Amino acid sequence: METNSVSSSVIFFFFIFLVLFVINGNCTVTYDNKAILINGQRRILLSGSVHYPRSTPDMWEDLILKAKNGGLDVIDTYVFWNGHEPSPGNYNFEGRYDLVRFVKTVQKVGLFVNLRIGPYVCAEWNYGGFPVWLKYVPGISFRTDNEPFKAAMQGFTQKIVGMMKSENLFESQGGPIILSQIENEYGSQRRALGAAGDAYMNWAAKMAVGLDTGVPWIMCKDDNAPDPLINTCNGFYCDAFTPNKPYKPTMWTEAWTGWFNEFGGTVHQRPVQDLAFAVARFIQIGGSYINYYMFHGGTNFGRTAGGPFITTSYDYDAPIDEYGLIREPKYGHLKELHKAIKLCEPALVSADPTKTSLGTFQQARVFTTGNGSCAAFLSNFDSNSAARVIFNKMHYNLPPWSISILPDCRNVVFNTAKVGAQTSHVEMLASNSQFYSWETYNEDTTSSDDSSAFTANGLLEQISVTRDTSDYLWYITSIDISSSESFLRGGQKPILTVNSKGHAVHVFINGQLAGSAYGTRAKTRFTFTGPVNLQVGTNKISLLSIAMGLPNNGMHYENWAVGLGLVELNGLDQGKKDLSSQTWSYKVGLRGEMMNLVSPDKDSSVEWTQMSAITQNQQPLRWYKAYFDAPNGDEPLALDMTSMGKGQVWVNGQSIGRYWLTNANGNCDICHYNGTYRAPKCQLGCGQPTQRWYHVPRSWLRPTQNFIVLLEEIGGDASKIALVKRTTSRVCANAFEHHPTVANYKTESTAPQKMLRQARVHLSCGPGQSISAIKFASFGTPKGTCGSFQLGNCHSQNSNALIEKMCVGKESCKIAVSNSYFGSDPCPRVLKKLSVEAICSTTMN
Ligand SMILES: *[C@@H]1O[C@H](CO)[C@@H](O)[C@H](O)[C@H]1NC(C)=O
Ligand SMILES: *[C@@H]1O[C@H](CO)[C@@H](O)[C@H](O)[C@H]1NC(C)=O
Repeated sequence: METNSVSSSVIFFFFIFLVLFVINGNCTVTYDNKAILINGQRRILLSGSVHYPRSTPDMWEDLILKAKNGGLDVIDTYVFWNGHEPSPGNYNFEGRYDLVRFVKTVQKVGLFVNLRIGPYVCAEWNYGGFPVWLKYVPGISFRTDNEPFKAAMQGFTQKIVGMMKSENLFESQGGPIILSQIENEYGSQRRALGAAGDAYMNWAAKMAVGLDTGVPWIMCKDDNAPDPLINTCNGFYCDAFTPNKPYKPTMWTEAWTGWFNEFGGTVHQRPVQDLAFAVARFIQIGGSYINYYMFHGGTNFGRTAGGPFITTSYDYDAPIDEYGLIREPKYGHLKELHKAIKLCEPALVSADPTKTSLGTFQQARVFTTGNGSCAAFLSNFDSNSAARVIFNKMHYNLPPWSISILPDCRNVVFNTAKVGAQTSHVEMLASNSQFYSWETYNEDTTSSDDSSAFTANGLLEQISVTRDTSDYLWYITSIDISSSESFLRGGQKPILTVNSKGHAVHVFINGQLAGSAYGTRAKTRFTFTGPVNLQVGTNKISLLSIAMGLPNNGMHYENWAVGLGLVELNGLDQGKKDLSSQTWSYKVGLRGEMMNLVSPDKDSSVEWTQMSAITQNQQPLRWYKAYFDAPNGDEPLALDMTSMGKGQVWVNGQSIGRYWLTNANGNCDICHYNGTYRAPKCQLGCGQPTQRWYHVPRSWLRPTQNFIVLLEEIGGDASKIALVKRTTSRVCANAFEHHPTVANYKTESTAPQKMLRQARVHLSCGPGQSISAIKFASFGTPKGTCGSFQLGNCHSQNSNALIEKMCVGKESCKIAVSNSYFGSDPCPRVLKKLSVEAICSTTMN
């Protein structure tokens, strides 16, 4: 029958549709104008960057769990080509470079992955992630329409994609990878290169899409990213960003949580109130994907730091600190923000925001859906004053530079400037571990009898000689001084001038250190000028030029030179003598490096000398070694290098990284959260070493007989190096009554009223610790900040006793900030708060 055949074909097509839907619908990632869709569902995705080689595999699961508990859905990482392919075709996916293990760890914890392959990654990582050998491929030019470069880039990208596919790691295969990135921050480069940049970009997009991963590709900071790639934003704020096509979602791939540090600079911080404000600003314009760069910054172990002069610490003021400990209140405040955003998710993914002015600097952005869900964001862009606004016939108080989030368009569950999370103070405490059996070995500073040396006329570019196998390159020449020179008879000493293109130089005359000079990150070129001691006869001039991390960004940075330029001597009877074009001998690396002194299992042939009290501490270019037992407990560990100058340090053969105790220059004036953030704002540590502590991962230690080796370039007192434990020393709460607190956001059916909980504070010490004492507690009008609280006019007498009873001896405790909890109202009609400072101690067991 007619009707029957119609209905059976309908059923048939419906069946086909169902099969297709099940096949694709199970595992697909797509996008539309509102959001990334996972299995057909639009998602607000919160993501955090955790770079696998910047921690150890032992730390990965804990870091990812902390990210998950902080409310994240996605872990974002770059892929580090130079770590994976140290020489052409020779791959490394072991240890910290075990990418598959990292992605599987994220999967195990239950988060998604954004795999930003690049393979250019910038990332304050040596050479922006490119292997140095790539520069020496004939005819190559980086990041442009250049065949040798494109072939190499395609080869590595295919390798990574193939590896992920063979492990079924893309979401389309049931894995965790929902997004991938090709290239990185290409916009400014493309504008400078013009047609060649466009051609390269189109090629890169086509090449990536052709790899058929089944998940979307993104391209950050390039407004011309070709379809179907999604162009995304990086920055401190991204609420002025719109994607280049109306059918792409609004994504922020790098919300900078802080900033990186450079040796000689201050430590940068970004207040969490401003970071939360930036995130809320992005969500309220319809943004649906935010990645914190960094959520855990970690450590630039070995010589992986980019440069020049990026510090070994890549802490980044991230919500999880370099050592893997939660940083409060940054982590806790963002966690509350994430809960508030997720409460709004149904409205955010289905409605477009409407904008209403509530005052000169105040606005409401409202997401209303057809079926009655409603979420509102009330903002105050005035950086100086709070505002009282009327919205839906209700009054709301908005602190300066803040946004309140109302998941039901009525109740405020979160304000970006009101921090309810605890503040934690961490300290580096002495450990019980001592170094023993110190011995020293003096590096040869004359480089006399060396067979590995070669000679050339003139001064060579450093990296073309070292290929970055070592930071160090010796430039050695000699000068003959005749007995007739007048400076020998009481005249002024000759002046040596050494021009360098980067990054540092130590000048040795006849084996004696005559001085050192350094560039900076902003200005890598520098000049050493100083008087030198020359004798009658042949004088040996040995210049140790040092690379302090290769550049990671800038137009054709592969062509930036390192090493010595013009070298001349002034003040001889003949006047100026140019030494640059005479014959120089070259030696790559230090003798101690060649002899692998850092290796724990090598019985080296060098003559170590016992370090005694009479050993001269200021001896330059000296190796030190000692042993130590692992400290008890499980707190993260660091080396306190205050007594040293500059060099590198290894533990059990693993490189901890470069150290340099140079003092920070900067402006450490008071830091307000309010007002537009820029990296110079909120600096710390003026006049102190930029980096004093160097992370020693616990997993690199054995219980006893750990082997430490360091190379000190300038001079220092190795006997004063200390192993310290990173410990939470105290935690503080400082919260107002009626502070909004978000209830468990996973229960979607929660009625709006139930989303609000009584204000309460949660105090929690570090792992393996408990609260041992309450140093301060006041419910009333206490003043001051954590560490300097004082009683105000109003104070509830039983504050101390109550909180001691609740908290002392516990790992954590929760306290309600309300009259009923404290028995009575100590001062009616006054807005009260609770301030607590609690001391944390390691639990004895
Ligand atoms: C309203 O519709 C959206 C999709 O448009 C859905 O996600 C949401 O659950 C619905 N809300 C209610 C209360 O029905
Ligand atoms: C931030 O607040 C402080 C203290 O209220 C004020 O002195 C400062 O001017 C404000 N900053 C900006 C940029 O408005």
